[in-house]
Amino acid sequence: MFLSLYITIMMIDFATTSYYLLKISKKNMGILFLFYSLVCIFLIVSDSFTSSSVMMHHLCSPTEAFALLHFKQSFQISDFRRCLDVTDLQYVDIPKTKSWNEGRDCCSWDGVTCDLFTGHVIELDLGCSLLNGAIHPNSSLFQLHHLHTLNLAYNDFNISSIPHSIGRLTNLRHLNLSRSSFSGKIPTEISHLFNLVSLDLSDNYDGLQLDETTFETILQNLTNLESFFLVPKLENLKLGDNDLLKGVLPKIHPSNTTLLELDISNSGISGELPDSIGTFSSLDILNLKGCQFSGSIPDSIGNITQIRYLDFSYYHLTGHIPSTISKLKHLTILGLSSNSFSGEIPDYFSNLQELSYLDLSNNSFIGSFPSTIVSLTHLQHLHLSSNSLSGPLPNNFSMLQKLTQLGLWNNSLNGIIPSSLFSLPLLGELWLNNNRFSGLPNELKINPNFERLSLSHNQLSDFFPQSLVNLTNLSNLDLSSNNITIDEGIQITFPSLQILKLSSCELKEFPHFLTNGKRLLFLDISNNKIRGKIPNWFRGIRWDNLRYLNLSHNSLTGHLPQFHFHNLEFLDLKFNSLQGPLPSSICNMNDLEFLDISRNNFSNSIPSCLGSMSSLKVLDLRRNNFTGSIPPLCAKSTSLITIVLNDNQFEGTLPFSLINCSNLEVADMGNNAINDTFPAWLGTLEELQVLILKSNLFHGPISSCQSTLCFPELRIFDLSHNQFSGSLPAKVFGNFKAMIKLDGEDTGKIRYMEPDMIPLYTSYEDSVSLVIKGQDIELERISTIMTTIDLSSNHFEGVIPKTLKDLSSLWLLNLSHNNLIGHIPMELGQLNKLEALDLSWNRLTGKIPRELTTMKFLAVLNLSQNLLIGSIPQGLQFNTFENDSYGGNLDLCGPPLSKQCGTSDSSHVPQPLESEDESYFFCGFTWESVVIGYSFGLVVGTVVWSLVFKYRKPEWFVEFFEGIYPKKMRRSMKRAQRRQT
Ligand SMILES: *[C@@H]1O[C@H](CO)[C@@H](O)[C@H](O)[C@H]1NC(C)=O
Ligand SMILES: *[C@@H]1O[C@H](CO)[C@@H](O)[C@H](O)[C@H]1NC(C)=O
Ligand SMILES: *[C@@H]1O[C@H](CO)[C@@H](O)[C@H](O)[C@H]1NC(C)=O
Repeated sequence: MFLSLYITIMMIDFATTSYYLLKISKKNMGILFLFYSLVCIFLIVSDSFTSSSVMMHHLCSPTEAFALLHFKQSFQISDFRRCLDVTDLQYVDIPKTKSWNEGRDCCSWDGVTCDLFTGHVIELDLGCSLLNGAIHPNSSLFQLHHLHTLNLAYNDFNISSIPHSIGRLTNLRHLNLSRSSFSGKIPTEISHLFNLVSLDLSDNYDGLQLDETTFETILQNLTNLESFFLVPKLENLKLGDNDLLKGVLPKIHPSNTTLLELDISNSGISGELPDSIGTFSSLDILNLKGCQFSGSIPDSIGNITQIRYLDFSYYHLTGHIPSTISKLKHLTILGLSSNSFSGEIPDYFSNLQELSYLDLSNNSFIGSFPSTIVSLTHLQHLHLSSNSLSGPLPNNFSMLQKLTQLGLWNNSLNGIIPSSLFSLPLLGELWLNNNRFSGLPNELKINPNFERLSLSHNQLSDFFPQSLVNLTNLSNLDLSSNNITIDEGIQITFPSLQILKLSSCELKEFPHFLTNGKRLLFLDISNNKIRGKIPNWFRGIRWDNLRYLNLSHNSLTGHLPQFHFHNLEFLDLKFNSLQGPLPSSICNMNDLEFLDISRNNFSNSIPSCLGSMSSLKVLDLRRNNFTGSIPPLCAKSTSLITIVLNDNQFEGTLPFSLINCSNLEVADMGNNAINDTFPAWLGTLEELQVLILKSNLFHGPISSCQSTLCFPELRIFDLSHNQFSGSLPAKVFGNFKAMIKLDGEDTGKIRYMEPDMIPLYTSYEDSVSLVIKGQDIELERISTIMTTIDLSSNHFEGVIPKTLKDLSSLWLLNLSHNNLIGHIPMELGQLNKLEALDLSWNRLTGKIPRELTTMKFLAVLNLSQNLLIGSIPQGLQFNTFENDSYGGNLDLCGPPLSKQCGTSDSSHVPQPLESEDESYFFCGFTWESVVIGYSFGLVVGTVVWSLVFKYRKPEWFVEFFEGIYPKKMRRSMKRAQRRQT
């Protein structure tokens, strides 16, 4: 009753105001009054009718209340308390259903809305209500026929499918089932919801599938549909696994669709972009980013004349952008990046005067910078990076008064960077890196808002650009890889500078202006020509924010000062000539994760506190002159992932504290003077992949592991040039599980770094130096297919164990220069990934087993200097080996040796070898010739599946160099790569 009175008053009020506002004539006013009076009478009558029914029932019908309660009871209330939204995080303590009880009118329950007049439940909002369980097809939910709005987003329906009975709720206008762990096929019955205005099925469990006919009927039947969201789960995108929604965009017939928003971005929908796209003529937003469409954009795109947001990025679209796009006069956001569009950037973008965001990056556009674009006065973001644009930039940017971000990196633009760019009042980020710009104007009126400027990898020369010195808000400056140096006298303040990258320039000294950089967080002046001692003023600096310091690849000398950078996380001093001891102040850097001081002349023993640094992940001390014993690494922490001590003069034994390094992946202690027995106890380190102990004073037999774990992940095992003795450790080999399975085929583990995942800091890649097929080669990256066992130059005795055959992924096996006896086991022929086998300089007897010819990748074979006899097997790879593979044996015959089989003089007894060197020449055998021999053959693999320590978290990262690896491998990697992208 009160309600209708209120409405009546409101209406009268409205009518009178309308009168004044619209100055309605008196006659019309009379008609209006009559109309309103009729409405009021109707309202009062109907209201008294409903009020009387209120007196008889609850406002909410008991059947509906019962249905709701029943629905509630069909779920568990889960205990996770977070509803993760892409944009914000909601925390839920009390589920909405908590207020649901029979004692109260159901219309007052949380999340329930009833029709004011009929009392029917018309809205059910249980978004983010901690519901857990499946919705049964007979669920009481489907008795709520009057529902207009149903929101079940952000719950957990337990990977169940969307029940087909949803089609019974024919009054639904808004249906939101997003982010709720639904899976399976989207039921066709959804297309029975004729009144649907918005439909959101985004971000559900992996398997939500939309078949083509359902999609087609949805678009065809739901003529009121205005928005349709079907974006798959975000986490899955990161894995690049976007085959979640299979199907193609249906070819719908010209119809009167009213769809305003269609977002099926990143779904697996594929095929050619249909010409019928133009029939969605009412669209305001079309987001097809990251779909799998191919072909070109159809001309009909020009029919969607109302569209404001169009995103076709990350496709396989080719050809030219159709000129009809110029009809889309309301476009404000246009994303066409990461396709294969070619030709010049067309002029007709200049018709899109509303554009505020234009992204054409990562295509194959050629020609010069499109001068017409500078007339788009609303433009805020412009990205043309990673194309093949060339020539100089125009100097008429002054119309782009709203531009805040300009990305032109990775093109071939040249000339002087125009001054009009810098004076744009709102421009804050300018990315011009990886071009051929040769300079900046001498005088620049730079807007003070400038924050980020990247000019790296250009051809700037001479001195630090004078025109940049007044950028008071600059926080991020990258000038690396240019030919610039810094004028001593230059006055630069940069009070806001946080990130400064000046690597690979021509700096001759530490830039003195850094004394002003109080907020510096990241400083990279690596790879310059800085000579001499670290200057005193730099020693004295206190940068409390500094996290990253890279001074590597210079010619720094003298002692390392006690730095005052207590918050440093990353310190790289490699490739300098620093000397003296490592100051213990390093250990005060509690957050230090990465310490690389390799390839210097540091000496003395290293501070034992290094073993207690709780954040340290990478410790690389290789190629210095450190002496003394290895400190107790991992004494108080388990963070170390990589320890490289190679090529120093460490003595004593391996510290037993290493057994705590549970995250250790790489342990390289080679080329020192460590006097110890085999550390079988390291076998318990479950992550250890690389163990290099070569060229030390290790001795004694290889004892088997005492625990069940025995180097389960080991791939590189190098004990060469020690004094190990006893028989070959057949049992230990048998436990090398990583060598038994082949990781290269297990692509599930391998992920690709995406551009936005590249950490702020650089990545450290583990590198080791191995004798690969006779040459000491520093591997820049360690691949997981490089499984090697090198036990050469020790005193091993006895026979070659047959069980070696089980190490099926073995890539290189070197047992040379030992005292091995017996036959070459024919089982070795089963090592079908083996590329190099060296058994030379032993006392092996018998014939060369024919089975070895089945090793189809074998590129290097050295069986020389043994006591082998008989004919050399022929065929396959064996036809590629030459004399030097067999020299110095007792009685081998047949090609490639000149000695023919069956003609030998049986009385002939070969002379025992006087010394190794003589026989070396006697055989005409040198490692170099071997290297040359195979470099035309099956090539040395260097970079494949890499073991990379990424600064923030270690992860498998894959990269490979074209042309180095055998074709077959390359193809399979490309396939893997394509699967990922
Ligand atoms: C579109 O709407 C018009 C007028 O409402 C109607 O005549 C026509 O049949 C409709 N077209 C289709 C394909 O439904
Ligand atoms: C849509 O675009 C195509 C190609 O530009 C054109 O031939 C067709 O007439 C257009 N249809 C409508 C309804 O405007
Ligand atoms: C290694 O250590 C043992 C015992 O500690 C010692 O007898 C031996 O001489 C050492 N070897 C070398 C080469 O220094």
